[in-house]
Amino acid sequence: MQNPDEIGRQNEELRDSRAQTYDIRFGFTRGGQRKLLSLIPLGQNPYVLDLACGTGYALREAANRTSGQGQFYGVDNSSKMVEMAQIKSKSYPNLHFLKSRVEELPFDNNFFDVIMSSNAFHHFSNPEKTVKEARRVLKPHGRLYISDIAANNAFMRISDKFSGRLEPARVEFYSRKEFQAFFEKAELRYVGSVRSDVIPPIEVHIAEK
Ligand SMILES: C[S@@+](CC[C@H](N)C(=O)[O-])C[C@H]1O[C@@H](n2cnc3c(N)ncnc32)[C@H](O)[C@@H]1O
Repeated sequence: MQNPDEIGRQNEELRDSRAQTYDIRFGFTRGGQRKLLSLIPLGQNPYVLDLACGTGYALREAANRTSGQGQFYGVDNSSKMVEMAQIKSKSYPNLHFLKSRVEELPFDNNFFDVIMSSNAFHHFSNPEKTVKEARRVLKPHGRLYISDIAANNAFMRISDKFSGRLEPARVEFYSRKEFQAFFEKAELRYVGSVRSDVIPPIEVHIAEK
């Protein structure tokens, strides 16, 4: 098994090198992010966090839905991704981006109404710690939404092995059951999982504090 610090360093290097071209190369993932956002009720003046926000697309889309209300934070381990997110979000005064690992979040306890993450959970070197950390910064009854490639069947398990060879910094795809176990260990209530009709096969896993 790879050392989590080494995985983190590889992720950072890879994402730094991809930040400039990320939106062009990975534009096909935007449908999955819009599906994720369609499942999130934002309410009045929401405090929202995006774990591993990349260039900030999902946060800008979320902010567009609240007509200037709320505060939206994104963290990402790659300083170049954070830079791109800041450049692309210049016209949004309520969007804030910080370079941070998701395993140690720079926020007080009980700070966010909603935490989301898209296309990134499979990269995290310590998924259990990440979900526990998300719980810490969620307000009571706040919700966590994780959208990622689903690994519920043998085909996806095999793809997982192959994509591991193509993607040096990738870690692992998880099944619905594995997400339920992460939530349970973090003392979050599992609300459910929703399958998206997009390619690659994405599922959104929802839990509540
Ligand atoms: C495939 S990109 C997805 C970005 C964005 N969520 C999107 O869908 O456009 C994965 C992101 O996860 C970030 N990342 C990976 N591991 C991380 C960690 N442990 N802490 C913070 N960010 C991490 C990478 O820097 C990268 O920006």
